Amino acid sequence: HYLGIDIGTSGTKTLLIKADGTVVAEANAEYPMHQPRPGWTEQDPEDWWQATIKTVGNVMRSSGLKPADVKAIGLSGQMHGSVFVDKAGKVIRPALLWNDQRTTAECDEITQAAGGRKALIKMVANPALTGFQAPKILWLRNKEKRNFDKLAKVLLPKDDIRRRMTGNYVSEVSDASGTLLLNVVKRTWSKKLMGKLKLDMDLLPEVVESDQVTGTLTSEAAKLLGLTTDCKVVGGAGDCAAGAVGNGVVKKGVLSTSIGTSGVMFVHSDQPQYDAAGRLHTFCHAVNGKWHMMGVNLTSGGSLQWWVDSVLQGLAGIDKAKRYEAATAEAEAVAAGSNGLLFLPYLNGERTPHADPNARGSFVGMNLTHTRGHMTRSVMEGITLALRDSLDIIESLEVPVKQIRASGGGSKNPFWRQMQADVFGKKITRLEVEQGAAFGVALLAAVGDGAYKSIESACTATIKVAEETKPDRKAVANYNQLFPIYRDLYQQLKGSMS
Ligand code: XUL
Repeated sequence: HYLGIDIGTSGTKTLLIKADGTVVAEANAEYPMHQPRPGWTEQDPEDWWQATIKTVGNVMRSSGLKPADVKAIGLSGQMHGSVFVDKAGKVIRPALLWNDQRTTAECDEITQAAGGRKALIKMVANPALTGFQAPKILWLRNKEKRNFDKLAKVLLPKDDIRRRMTGNYVSEVSDASGTLLLNVVKRTWSKKLMGKLKLDMDLLPEVVESDQVTGTLTSEAAKLLGLTTDCKVVGGAGDCAAGAVGNGVVKKGVLSTSIGTSGVMFVHSDQPQYDAAGRLHTFCHAVNGKWHMMGVNLTSGGSLQWWVDSVLQGLAGIDKAKRYEAATAEAEAVAAGSNGLLFLPYLNGERTPHADPNARGSFVGMNLTHTRGHMTRSVMEGITLALRDSLDIIESLEVPVKQIRASGGGSKNPFWRQMQADVFGKKITRLEVEQGAAFGVALLAAVGDGAYKSIESACTATIKVAEETKPDRKAVANYNQLFPIYRDLYQQLKGSMS
């Protein structure tokens, strides 16, 4: 048996699977995200660890398995975050997260030190973006000098869990790509950029491929988790690459959309490929020797969550569990295009395609006919049109897109799947059982333990496509007309956003 653990933004999900991919047990535990100032996002790594202990305990109890039955663990998690650790292995301050926007000045500092944006992209395949890890390290040096002086290692969220499990400081190529400090083409740390930023190489953990074994549980961790010291921990993957493995997006031509808190358009690539304008990320895939490109929307499902939980709350007079169903049913009852109402989902800045931490959300084109259903529908359409921005860039780079696989919360609702097929103008497939990133890294654990020869063969053996949603010709034409109007809005409004 294998465990997959995904340290997400709203909570941790743990899955226990058999080598054939059957899910034996699942457990979730939530924790808060702190926003000490607008645009700042932080979490306490101790919350992640406690959620890990709790969910592993729960799946072991409900499965009735013995500790020695679990052979290996795969770790996944929210990418780009920074866990600052001192010499004694203590966490220095709360971790800054992937959607934190405080590092605009540090991004400029990195671009300058690298000798310009082009030179930076040449070194690490990506431009400096506020959520990435490298600008967070410089922020600590610039703004919290006393904390920086204590700094011994910087870890990504899931790699801090690995350290607590195995005592080893190790990352793997997919998540390390999102630090901005990895030479993505060579799949090793960029000594060159670290030198230009005057950062000590010792700050970084060792970096390996995603299916490699990175250690076994310490006796303390084995006791806390109810497992044995023979249990291996494999590299795992950042949640985007892990989700792609879990969805079988491990070969050319397959693209996945994922609507969670963030929205991700992810495409496999056999060679490192770039968007010269730096709007897409080029990262290592969790598949050995392969890469991927992706576009990321920072507040995707997060916009619907904001709309339903913060704005509609109370108004609807409906209990929390039913609120999404009720709201999306109202949206389904109004016509495609929301009768001219458009929504920009940039509630906390945006990455793809604008790379603008100051971008803000807006409803545009409201008139007296609009109802709550129109507003909900335009939020869902805005989120989906934002993903189309990424799809258009991917296709403009002549990356073949033969299949789109929908995943995440947004794929569960048939109405939203149809909207995706119509907005993208393409057929959408969906898996029989979608377990996302936790399933992806449980498979990596199985590969690392020798149950499969390769990640590709593990996916072929365990993943089954279930449903297809075909685009509706009329709706596609409608959204094709809407898209350029949507796209122009940001350009027109950006001067008034802040
Ligand atoms: C990817 C990204 C987000 C987080 C969310 O670049 O920032 O998808 O990984 O968990």
